[in-house]
Amino acid sequence: MNEIIDHDKITSQIQAFLDKPHGHFIDGQWIDGKSGKPIDVISPATGNIVSSIQSGDGDDVDKAVAAARRAFDSGVWSKVLPVERARIMFKLADLIEFHASQISQLEALDIGVSRHMMETIGVKLSANQLRYYAGWVTKINGETITNSRPRPEGREFLTYTEKEPVGVVGQIIPWNFPFAMAVQKIAPALAAGCTIVMKPAEDAPLSTLYLADLIAQTGLPSGVFNLVNGYGRKAGAAIAAHEGVDKVSFTGSTDVGKEIIRSATGNLKRTTLELGGKSPVILLKDADLDEAIPAVARAIFFLSGQNCMAGSRLLVHGDIYDRVLEGLVTLAKSMTIGADMTGTYDIGPLISEKQLTRVLAYIDIGISEGARLITGGKRVEKLPGFFVEPTIFADCNSGMRIVKEEIFGPVLTVQKFNSDDLDDIAALANDNIFGLSASVWTADLAQGHKLARKIKSGQVGINIHAAIDPATPFGGYKQSGWGREFGREGLEPYLETKAITAYL
Ligand code: NAI
Ligand code: MG
Repeated sequence: MNEIIDHDKITSQIQAFLDKPHGHFIDGQWIDGKSGKPIDVISPATGNIVSSIQSGDGDDVDKAVAAARRAFDSGVWSKVLPVERARIMFKLADLIEFHASQISQLEALDIGVSRHMMETIGVKLSANQLRYYAGWVTKINGETITNSRPRPEGREFLTYTEKEPVGVVGQIIPWNFPFAMAVQKIAPALAAGCTIVMKPAEDAPLSTLYLADLIAQTGLPSGVFNLVNGYGRKAGAAIAAHEGVDKVSFTGSTDVGKEIIRSATGNLKRTTLELGGKSPVILLKDADLDEAIPAVARAIFFLSGQNCMAGSRLLVHGDIYDRVLEGLVTLAKSMTIGADMTGTYDIGPLISEKQLTRVLAYIDIGISEGARLITGGKRVEKLPGFFVEPTIFADCNSGMRIVKEEIFGPVLTVQKFNSDDLDDIAALANDNIFGLSASVWTADLAQGHKLARKIKSGQVGINIHAAIDPATPFGGYKQSGWGREFGREGLEPYLETKAITAYL
């Protein structure tokens, strides 16, 4: 077991950042909110308080929305030359890479992700998200439309569309990989020319606050990016309900997603939701197990299962079932649990005491439902933070709550199937309210593609799980959400289409 995060390894610059008061970033400056008791920022690896943020309310949100509205209406962002908008986004991408160490220290402290993983995945992917969407800025075009309206002899029509930014957007992000989440939300919004009011997750705000400081160095006009700290039910709910917000984009739990839809009806704001998942990983009997078994472990245990794409439902053909279970148990038992700044551990902490309690409750439910616990199942008592052992339940069935519900912890459920019929296998995979991600493992690519077509899910990997890339649309079927992020489809929700017809 590895050492716990070593605060000596946090640089003095980061310590100074942690010690700063963290108010709200509105109209280009940090301001003090008047409201509420500050919120402690807790390191989940130690349970220690490492910083604090203000708890914003409706008044703070009003100020941020007003600033975003002024910036939008003035055209300082939406009307600048597209190449200039792209330039600022490229600059932010470079700044993020330049500050990789600082961002990674903060994320390591705030969520317990290893600094190494953060630098290689979190920072790189985030910078590339910005670069990808910066590339779109100069390619946001409408089209000319062939118009069939009857017309008198000698007259003509010209019909064309233009794309306009949707306006002020509210962006509410979760705590599970917050820096990447924040950047992936601002990138398409900035590309489209929108202005932003963001609320970081109260459980992990630090790297997003640092992002605001970096944004301030890019020359992005004041009021284009604003941030309000606070609880979801207060600051978040105020954004979702605000009449001055034209669109809301949310990533988080399905329950809160449904609340956001209800709040958004007031002004019918456009809504994009990236919600929960219970993603199936399907091992056909010809799967290459040397590749598949470690990949299955990564798919569930990455970020300790606190990942909307987590491959939390393993479906295995009966012929290979015992070998797969044995391989997974061996791997799970060999995993190191802890958090340090070097990135040498496999399993980090859960984000909070609340999530720890929730995950342990699900493990108890699994046991009482009769699932067979084959490894893990306990809190790691030796460590002070919120750690749970990598846990695997075998012999599960689709009726069990641990199979139906998103646990968001390092808990894998395994089900056996004996059919070779792709419709039967797809029916098992689709027997769930979610549809975010899935993967199929087989040596027969034609079978893999055929099965992929039958799975009701926003992403399907064949011999890979969760192949995230800025250009590849990401989002959910069913109760996993509304709309898509990433790729061209991720830009569209930030744009309105206007059709213009001239009678010539
Ligand atoms: P949550 O959905 O409450 O939190 C996510 C974000 O929503 C945070 O910024 C929070 O402040 C905000 N929020 C909460 N209530 C809100 C409201 N009424 N209006 C507007 N914003 C609001 O998630 P929570 O409670 O932290 O985690 C519970 C479960 O949610 C997890 O166990 C997991 O199953 C799921 N979850 C899924 C995520 C995903 O990426 N799909 C991310 C985070 C949580
Ligand atoms: Mg935290």
